[in-house]
Amino acid sequence: MKIKSIIFLSALFFALIYSCSNAMDKNKEQSQSNSSTEKITDTIDESCNNETIKDPNNPKPMALMMREMAKNAQLIKELIAKGEQVDSLKFPFIRFYLVEPTDPSVLEPQFYENARLFQEAYKALFKHPKEQTKYYNLVIGKCVNCHQSYCSGPLKRIRKLIITP
Ligand code: HEC
Repeated sequence: MKIKSIIFLSALFFALIYSCSNAMDKNKEQSQSNSSTEKITDTIDESCNNETIKDPNNPKPMALMMREMAKNAQLIKELIAKGEQVDSLKFPFIRFYLVEPTDPSVLEPQFYENARLFQEAYKALFKHPKEQTKYYNLVIGKCVNCHQSYCSGPLKRIRKLIITP
């Protein structure tokens, strides 16, 4: 009698564990869980692990803007290297955070906070015409910061934009 109830209880226990972990997996797949931010970043990391996750024939507006931003950063880097002054009229801030991304789950508070810090650094660049190299590198640092959390694929490429003395 006692052994029977022990077997019964442990069977119940394992059934419970099994169904719980199953449910958790499902949550992760659908990324509907909002109880743990860790899970959310997991999915994002996977989906933006390399630059090829985006359908190359049908890029989303945010991906297109990012390409534009990377192109501009390269141009700004070259101008600064030549000792020329960069101005905000030629390189206006691109409001990438208002448009549709490939993976909509990136649009969470930390992403917008990263975007805000990036925008601040970007504006500061044009306010310091005498220290362009320093402030330009701070901008690229903000690109890197966001990409470490949301889209690690282009990181190597972004790091190459840094001006090394
Ligand atoms: C606030 C976060 C954030 C900041 C800041 C940011 N990025 Fe991105 N970047 C993203 C996300 C998210 C994507 C994926 C966009 C998509 O696929 O729709 C992306 C995509 C890209 C891509 C790949 C585009 C493609 O071809 O699909 C490049 C390159 C890139 N970013 C460069 C940069 C550069 C350079 C900077 C700084 C000047 C920068 N990013 C700043 C979040 C950010």
